[in-house]
Amino acid sequence: MRIGVLTGGGDVPGLNAAIRAVARRAFEYGYEVVGIRNGWAGLLEGNADPLSLNSVSGILHVGGTILGTSRTNPLQRDGGTEQCLEHVKDLGIDALVVVGGDDTLSVAAALFKAGVPVVGVPKTMDNDVAHTDYCIGFNTAVTVVAEACDRLHTTADSHHRVVVVEVMGRDVGWVATIGGLAGGADLILVPECSHTVESICNHITRRCEEQGKGFSIIVVSEGAHIEDLEEREDLGKTDEFGHARLDKRNIGDVLSKAIEMRTGFESRAVILGHLQRGGSPTVFDRVLATRLGATAVDLIKEGRFGQMAAIQGSHIVSVPLEQVAGKTKKIDLDLYRLAEVFF
Ligand code: F6P
Repeated sequence: MRIGVLTGGGDVPGLNAAIRAVARRAFEYGYEVVGIRNGWAGLLEGNADPLSLNSVSGILHVGGTILGTSRTNPLQRDGGTEQCLEHVKDLGIDALVVVGGDDTLSVAAALFKAGVPVVGVPKTMDNDVAHTDYCIGFNTAVTVVAEACDRLHTTADSHHRVVVVEVMGRDVGWVATIGGLAGGADLILVPECSHTVESICNHITRRCEEQGKGFSIIVVSEGAHIEDLEEREDLGKTDEFGHARLDKRNIGDVLSKAIEMRTGFESRAVILGHLQRGGSPTVFDRVLATRLGATAVDLIKEGRFGQMAAIQGSHIVSVPLEQVAGKTKKIDLDLYRLAEVFF
């Protein structure tokens, strides 16, 4: 048995832990493993190298992905599916482990339909993959957000400022909700709820007048919608999966300026950006990646293709990829309501 493994989409800490788990479980079963470079781009080109015990050694705690990644979508390329099928055959791959978010896993689902024996592993700091409670990388990202909020509290308090912390997460507010809840945010703005500049400013003023709080920490998702905020219209080209660059909205900065103008509070914007995806994975992400990676190989051993390893509660389960493809898991509104208690 020869297993191919690839990582696609935005990198996150924990990918190397998953690659290591795939390889080590496979070696335990006497299988060979081939690492495909740069996600789907590597499969389109047939760019792959064998992995050995040595090549996956010492990477558990290292961020990024030793295989490289890309946002290439083979389904958007002429003859892309056929090229992938051809290279799976040429590389002698009997089964493919695909570690990625919804975009990457949707391609995996399509290739499974086209005859490739595929198994998926969910990773994305956005945590928006359907039918899994957590994706690899999310816990590390929210740990960074919470730590940033802790640090920003002291400086916001000292200067009596409103600090707007812009976080990633695309069209869902998981990172903002959990990072903000853990970081004691005074307001969290997410794409799933409606907000206005007026209500945000009223909240800041009320905190000051009623609670004597001369500072506020506001966590805003890059994809949040604030009805009366003037926004930049042109976000440039979309990627091969149709996503616009939401960081170009500059929502943190625009909101911070609007707050300063309307409330008279001094305000600063802090954009956490790719810091949320860098560095060493947390313990939770290391263990999650290890469990999901090993389970992917177990699914292959059992011949259960077209499945994604997932975590539901504390259990590792498997879910058909076709139930995951094209879906977006929105935030749990109960958690948002809980965060609201502390606003
Ligand atoms: O999907 C993960 C993510 O980090 C999003 O939260 C963010 O919008 C996007 O990727 C950023 O992409 P890039 O790394 O291409 O700038």
